[in-house]
Amino acid sequence: MKIAIIGTGRMGKALLKAFYRAYPSQILFAGRKAEEAQLITSELSLTIQAVQLQDALQADIIIPALWFKDLQPWVEAHREQLRGKILIDITNPFNATFDDLTTGYGTSAAEELQRLVPETKVVGAFKNTFWVVFDQPEHRGILSDVFLTSDAPDALEKVRQVLEPLPFRLFDAGKLKNNRTIERMTLLSRELSLKTGTYPRVSFHLWGV
Ligand SMILES: NC(=O)c1ccc[n+]([C@@H]2O[C@H](COP(=O)([O-])OP(=O)(O)OC[C@H]3O[C@@H](n4cnc5c(N)ncnc54)[C@H](OP(=O)(O)O)[C@@H]3O)[C@@H](O)[C@H]2O)c1
Repeated sequence: MKIAIIGTGRMGKALLKAFYRAYPSQILFAGRKAEEAQLITSELSLTIQAVQLQDALQADIIIPALWFKDLQPWVEAHREQLRGKILIDITNPFNATFDDLTTGYGTSAAEELQRLVPETKVVGAFKNTFWVVFDQPEHRGILSDVFLTSDAPDALEKVRQVLEPLPFRLFDAGKLKNNRTIERMTLLSRELSLKTGTYPRVSFHLWGV
């Protein structure tokens, strides 16, 4: 099984480090600028080479670390290569001023993506995990929660198994429509952490479950 991480930004790097620790020989890492992706693997002293985007799309599980506005045309352009695969959606559709979402209350980024690629199984994950949290997902002995969502139970279960070695508490958080809540909760947690001065070190831990 191969896992592709696509994107050289903050989340791309954070995901690369986390997945590489668990699956050093199964990761394919790519960015739209090949030299930038290669520089990242060198800077992190990883034993893998970055690959071309087309090669990364051969993976079984694909995690694009792009903004929702960029991801929509990206999945449409790569619909054929994504067919039959699992796509892990990490996006929060924040607007340009980070005070609302670009999606209405009746939908979510995850649902919109699933609509664009019906023959790909979309699994939501890591939407509430800010990039710095990956380096230290434990706070005073409590783990950061990752909410897994999908309309395909087999894909959700597969991703749950793949994420088990990562240092997070995992929840089966139900259908993709629950991302209407998860994505808005992430927006709120961002705002609250900015107010309290802890941004970007903020995550969910649902107490009592
Ligand atoms: N930041 C967080 O803490 C956090 C937490 C949870 C979820 N997320 C979600 O994660 C996603 C990425 O966030 P981020 O903070 O990592 O953003 P970022 O640092 O701005 O990185 C975004 C990356 O997307 C790349 N990109 C854009 N269009 C592309 C394309 N067509 N092909 C390949 N790469 C492309 C950009 O590449 P270039 O460098 O070449 O422009 C950039 O490296 C967003 O959807 C966000 O909602 C973020």
